[in-house]
Amino acid sequence: MADAPPPDDAPPEDRGEPVIEMKNVVARYDEQVVLNDVSMKVHRGEVMCIVGGSGSGKSTMLRCLLGTLIPVSGSVHVFGVDMIRASQKERDEVYQRLGMVYQSGALFGSMTAWENVALPLQEHSSLDHKIIDISVRMKLGLVRLSGFEHRLPSQLSGGQLKRVAFARAISMDPEVLFCDEPSAGLDPRIGRGIDDLIRNLNRAFNMAICVVTHEMESVKIIADSITMLAPMPGGARVVFSGTNEELAACEDPVVRDFVNRAPLKEPRWEPSEILKQLVGED
Ligand SMILES: Nc1ncnc2c1ncn2[C@@H]1O[C@H](COP(=O)(O)OP(=O)(O)OP(=O)(O)O)[C@@H](O)[C@H]1O
Ligand SMILES: [Mg+2]
Repeated sequence: MADAPPPDDAPPEDRGEPVIEMKNVVARYDEQVVLNDVSMKVHRGEVMCIVGGSGSGKSTMLRCLLGTLIPVSGSVHVFGVDMIRASQKERDEVYQRLGMVYQSGALFGSMTAWENVALPLQEHSSLDHKIIDISVRMKLGLVRLSGFEHRLPSQLSGGQLKRVAFARAISMDPEVLFCDEPSAGLDPRIGRGIDDLIRNLNRAFNMAICVVTHEMESVKIIADSITMLAPMPGGARVVFSGTNEELAACEDPVVRDFVNRAPLKEPRWEPSEILKQLVGED
């Protein structure tokens, strides 16, 4: 008899093969190496946060995971599919099982919230209009936007736009959700609401969620595991990989510096010097 699958509440590493695995990836744009020997894993039902400063290569990591940027070396597997060597057909099959919340939201401005969320179902399923309508209303309900079906993106607040982007990303019931800076630009209270949404989707659907963020407060709330990137000569490297508890205990100064974001103890210049610089006096 086949072994029973591991239970959903087992620790992530005991939940079988990772759904996402990146190994020793080197990636670059033209001559600039951005990622250097970067590895990470996400298991079924796990929330993994990729953290690091602006420009450290977090979105580039997502591009490699999605197969839109091909690394120079290393490997990327999603649901066991080799994303570097996969045919377009194999990649498309993987995309049907993924959802993506883009850093910019990327909603269609001339389409209502309903139409934005319905689009993936209309394009990739043969469901009839009634079923699509039920499904879209359910997804908008999940992100607490019932009654906003007819609004255009320009008629929604920043937090509501992000919620529509989530509803669209989960319209096809993905097994894995990628989110790039989901709470960037939102006030802390609305950002907390997005954290709750991520946790609820993870718990309710056992969805693996890979979140790119630099908000450490959010990481403390949502992350089962964390991969931290730091820029280095020759490309960003992983400087930490582990749980929130392990992060709290990590003494690496590069890691501590990012986590604590210690303010400068002394101003770099006297205020009078700054004024001189502003008016162009030497
Ligand atoms: N399409 C591109 N072509 C050339 N260089 C790029 C491209 N996209 C990103 N870069 C460069 O790669 C580096 C990493 O960029 P990336 O967008 O991955 O950073 P990030 O960690 O997501 O930053 P942020 O937190 O600001 O979103 C940066 O130096 C950036 O200028
Ligand atoms: Mg980015």
